[in-house]
Amino acid sequence: MKSFLVLVIGFLICGAVSAQNHPDWVKSAVFYQIYPSSFQDSNGDGIGDLKGIMSRLDYIQSIGINTIWLNPVFKSAFKDGGYDVIDFYQVDQRFGTNTELIQLAEEVHKRGMHIVLDLVAGHSSNESPWFKQSMLADKNLQYSDYYIWAPNKPNDLSEQEASRWVEANAPRAKYFIKNFYDIQPALNYGYANPNPNHPWEQSVDAPGPRAVRRELQNIITFWLEKGIDGFRVDLAASLVKNDPDKKATIALWKELNGWFDQKFPQGVLIAEWFNPKQSIEAGFDIDFLRPGKLTSAYERGKKTDAKVYFTKAGEGDIVDWKQYFTDQYSNTINKGYLSLPTGNHDSPRIASEGREDAAQLKVLLTFLLTQPGVPFIYYGDEIGMKYIQNSPDVEGSKNRSGTRTPMQWDGSENAGFSTAQKANLYIPLDPDANRPNVAKQESDPNSQLNYVRNLLKLRSTTEALGNDGDWTFLSDEKQAYPMVYMRQKGNGKYVIAINPTDKAVEAKIKTLQANHVNNIYGTSKNGTYKIGKELDTIKLPAVSAVIFKVE
Ligand code: NOJ
Ligand code: CA
Repeated sequence: MKSFLVLVIGFLICGAVSAQNHPDWVKSAVFYQIYPSSFQDSNGDGIGDLKGIMSRLDYIQSIGINTIWLNPVFKSAFKDGGYDVIDFYQVDQRFGTNTELIQLAEEVHKRGMHIVLDLVAGHSSNESPWFKQSMLADKNLQYSDYYIWAPNKPNDLSEQEASRWVEANAPRAKYFIKNFYDIQPALNYGYANPNPNHPWEQSVDAPGPRAVRRELQNIITFWLEKGIDGFRVDLAASLVKNDPDKKATIALWKELNGWFDQKFPQGVLIAEWFNPKQSIEAGFDIDFLRPGKLTSAYERGKKTDAKVYFTKAGEGDIVDWKQYFTDQYSNTINKGYLSLPTGNHDSPRIASEGREDAAQLKVLLTFLLTQPGVPFIYYGDEIGMKYIQNSPDVEGSKNRSGTRTPMQWDGSENAGFSTAQKANLYIPLDPDANRPNVAKQESDPNSQLNYVRNLLKLRSTTEALGNDGDWTFLSDEKQAYPMVYMRQKGNGKYVIAINPTDKAVEAKIKTLQANHVNNIYGTSKNGTYKIGKELDTIKLPAVSAVIFKVE
């Protein structure tokens, strides 16, 4: 009896954690991703900062968002936009101080919201004191085995493996292994199947990899104990090297996620893995899906001849998407959450590739914000900020800077982002005189911003449309337009129909045998649903998306 009481009290103190070990707040979480250098500058140096973010929390909350994720804010050499960390325990001075980050978390919590940081788990900067120490000839120092050093480069490496070898000519050894840029030496989590002829390939249980895992736990603990609610984990899928089936990486994360769930039951860990089937098995709460040719003809920065689905031309297809989504969804349902984000700091914005007007973007946002799983809105996508071609390469952004331009708050010269000289802004603004901005859209009830607000409001007040609502594809995937699917929970049933094309379209689906079906929200009052004996008929005007309530 006594232990039962202890359990009950423990449960009440810790707050509710669902059977799958997700904190309850994730069930209704809607994320906003902030690229900190580009969001709001508070001190006029032209670079966004924590105080700036703090001053915009009310705006963020007003959209219907309740969680923010910040790209890395740690002390960095900024040769990859902060993904090259020098000190994981310290906020970079360009953003503010540790105290200000704690204050930001407090302000977030005061509003009933949550805040998640970016854990660059895979590597550090080559300017990190850990790396500098590991370069020394003495191999028995604290950080000696935090990295992977090799005296010679075997010539039987695969092309991909070989591309990770960086010639450093350090006292320690000639080569080290990197992850992304040469300035990002990989942290040593070991190798899945160490080759005995390659002494640098340590097992995941060797002292070096074990110490690195402990360091990761220390970083997580340091920030969670200061009020941070969790992390998005950069490159979560590629910590253990030579692990093609990901078994060793999954095992590593199972252990870490198990520890995390025990220690921080209200914390959340989000994988940058792009394969929820694996990452959810590894114990993560959320992982991302890639939209692929739903929204983009680009693959790894290169244009392909793929026909994109969300275009007016209506030449796209949905067969691959349906298969991919169904597979990921059915393998993760009731275990963890998928997320199909509106965008992120690495890929072109949704307002690109001929999809620049608000009418088209509203159709796409209706699709994105009626998906099961956790919505992520990339800053500025709510107002239709555009991907800016030929933005200059800033801090290793390469062509990703077009997606990282300053947030557009108002119609003033620097769009309300900063009081610095125009030439000193982190990245130049969208040069278009008619660039969208928050102030203008606030006052227009039909703006994209208010459309997103209404969608999120509907989502938060309608369980079937929420993160845990079930999803069923209803239309014939071989007839791509319109796409029709259902969201359902308990007695709540909603059908969503999506038509990005510039022509009116019609779908016939197996009858849902409803009594009434009403067009309750969307871009058009003229989308209709007719109940038939065997088949129901859905008609949509050009460029439209409609949510029907089924009773
Ligand atoms: C993925 C991040 O999203 C990206 O911005 C970064 O360059 C690489 N990981 C390397 O950390
Ligand atoms: Ca600043």
